[in-house]
Amino acid sequence: MKINSICCIGAGYVGGPTMAVIAYHCPNITVNVVDANIDKIKHWNNKDFNDLPVKEPGLGDIIKKVRNKNLHFTSDIKKAIENSQMIFLAVNTPTAKSGPAKGMGADLTNIINSAKLVAQYSKDPKIVIEKSTLPVRTAEKLKEVLKKYGNTDFQIISNPEFLAEGTAIKDLFKSDRVIIGGEDSVLGKKAVNHLVRIYSKWIPKEKIIVTNIWSSELSKLASNAFLAQRLSSINSLTSFCEKTGADILEVSKAVGMDKRIGGDFLSPSLGFGGSCFQKDILNLVYISRSLGLDEVADYWEQVIIMNDYQKKRFSNRILELTKSPETSTISVLGWAFKKNTNDSRESASIYIVRNLLINNCKINIYDPWVDVDKIKYDINYSLKQIRFKKSEIEIILKKIKIFNSIKSCIKNVSSIAICTEWDEFKEFDWKAAYKYVEPECIILDGRNIIDTKKIVGTNFRMYSLGR
Ligand code: UDX
Ligand code: UDX
Repeated sequence: MKINSICCIGAGYVGGPTMAVIAYHCPNITVNVVDANIDKIKHWNNKDFNDLPVKEPGLGDIIKKVRNKNLHFTSDIKKAIENSQMIFLAVNTPTAKSGPAKGMGADLTNIINSAKLVAQYSKDPKIVIEKSTLPVRTAEKLKEVLKKYGNTDFQIISNPEFLAEGTAIKDLFKSDRVIIGGEDSVLGKKAVNHLVRIYSKWIPKEKIIVTNIWSSELSKLASNAFLAQRLSSINSLTSFCEKTGADILEVSKAVGMDKRIGGDFLSPSLGFGGSCFQKDILNLVYISRSLGLDEVADYWEQVIIMNDYQKKRFSNRILELTKSPETSTISVLGWAFKKNTNDSRESASIYIVRNLLINNCKINIYDPWVDVDKIKYDINYSLKQIRFKKSEIEIILKKIKIFNSIKSCIKNVSSIAICTEWDEFKEFDWKAAYKYVEPECIILDGRNIIDTKKIVGTNFRMYSLGR
């Protein structure tokens, strides 16, 4: 088999950037990215390279170089599958909303449906690559589906994605490692080698690790669980610091300087978000319980419990420290789950705002990249989750205003909650801002990005997490 065409099902935060980078490094391979959402495909073909469905630093520049050369965003799923030797599955795998895995395990509907399409449209052997994060042993299920609905041979490979949003292009260009898990058979090894050859175009060979499929699937869950565990560990100490007079930034620096621990992923925050950490840990917990490993499940579950506590704690601090929260307006700065992305999935801001709304607060919101409609959708959805009725939600939504600048968002407010670490919040002239907020306005810095020295003499009150 010669690989001259690959297809990716799922043009989201993972599929879009990953395929753009593969196309860039492999000019002799045609890369077709398909998606069930036709509007999304149209958006990927937008003339304006700064306006694509995924906002990521550097992404527009890469797309500009390869789109309609060897990278194509197309809705013709059948043709894209038929013509490709390799098919990546990069559809989303959210936490299940019903069934035995409800609220814990991954919903595999999208991945199974994609596999059915691959089976249906494949006339000759294909290599199918799990790019989505999946429960351990999903490859087995995929194999069953491909066999049941298809008439040719399929090799399944696990190749989890480790890019982080906001730095996706940098991460893809300089990955710490690429993991490729395949079957221990002649055909399995051949399939793995095809993928190794693709990554070798830009990733040093020693960083490409070949494992068995199950280790590869588990490595992704484990990596995310370890990273999230560090965040819950440092966040757990923010409340400790506030009670003892220790400063979390000093503690984090001191701990991180130990080479064995390292300084990354020790920035305290109001709680981690993103589409992966919570979902993947819940999945790990679910699988552990299914295997009868209750102690293992309890151990990892605590990471999520601590994160929920942190979000609740920050939200309650806003209510405690805002003067008459029910009659004043609170400004929430930042809706994305981290800076440099327009993604708000599982963002702490969603939880914070919901809690404030339940407590009758009026809220102003500003985020530089997240669309207004997405913010409204998130709030709506989060209220529905706790069983608010449509009519009640309509009334509640009247308490929200969404702005297009920091300045307009903080005008006449009594408190300002910084929820995302956007550079423009850090660089904003807070000293001048004091003139147009309510007297004794409080800034609650959930990311510790504001230099407190800069607001000395302004009469702003300040709450910095863990300090
Ligand atoms: C990815 C991974 O694949 C997921 O498993 C991981 O845990 C998080 O990152 P992501 O790219 O972030 O998902 O998801 P999203 O941006 O929602 O993109 C998925 C795309 O798949 C969407 O555009 C959706 O329309 C598409 N899709 C979904 C299909 O094309 N077909 C389907 O059947 C389902
Ligand atoms: C994560 C993993 O890092 C990545 O390898 C995997 O492929 C997908 O999941 P992502 O969720 O995109 O990536 O971003 P990440 O940088 O990990 O941030 C996750 C959350 O943790 C964000 O809310 C971020 O603000 C928070 N965070 C991160 C902190 O609060 N402190 C830190 O020190 C680092």
